[in-house]
Amino acid sequence: MPGGGERYDQWALEFLADYIVNQFHLYTKKMLPQLSETIETVAQVHGESHPETRAIAVLWPEVQGELAQHMQKEELLLFPYIKRLARVRAEGSMPPVPPFGSARDLVEAMEAEHDETGDALRKIAVLSNNYTPPEDACPTFQTLYALLREFDAATKKHIHLENNILFPKTIELEETIRSN
Ligand SMILES: [Fe+2]
Ligand SMILES: [Fe+2]
Repeated sequence: MPGGGERYDQWALEFLADYIVNQFHLYTKKMLPQLSETIETVAQVHGESHPETRAIAVLWPEVQGELAQHMQKEELLLFPYIKRLARVRAEGSMPPVPPFGSARDLVEAMEAEHDETGDALRKIAVLSNNYTPPEDACPTFQTLYALLREFDAATKKHIHLENNILFPKTIELEETIRSN
């Protein structure tokens, strides 16, 4: 993950969208199957003495499925539309009318999905005692919580960049273009 000094709010929107895909979507796609496998293993081995690992294993498929579909919608619908908007602004051409109505509509749907993912990750954080492995945790168990902690932090940053920078700036750009 990159350091904290970047001025994301000053980046061109299309650049920020690409950055999010390259930094966060790729990482998430790599981690989802790896985490699934490790969560399964730990729940099988330690489920008896640590039932919280089973509860995490029950929650996880939802997180995985939701996030995978969510990123696909961003990559196939929203982010290409952001690039169109940026081109329209640069070229002064006709504004596009997307099949999903407006950026605002799609952004609202994406934000609702972010909330669901955030809720599920919060439950996992509580179940895992904020990713603190128990005293008797084997190396795989310890690795799992370290990976989940990292994944949680990356996902928070990912959602922050979208909710607080990319999405509001996209809505603003769309409204500026449409009002011209
Ligand atoms: Fe995203
Ligand atoms: Fe997102």
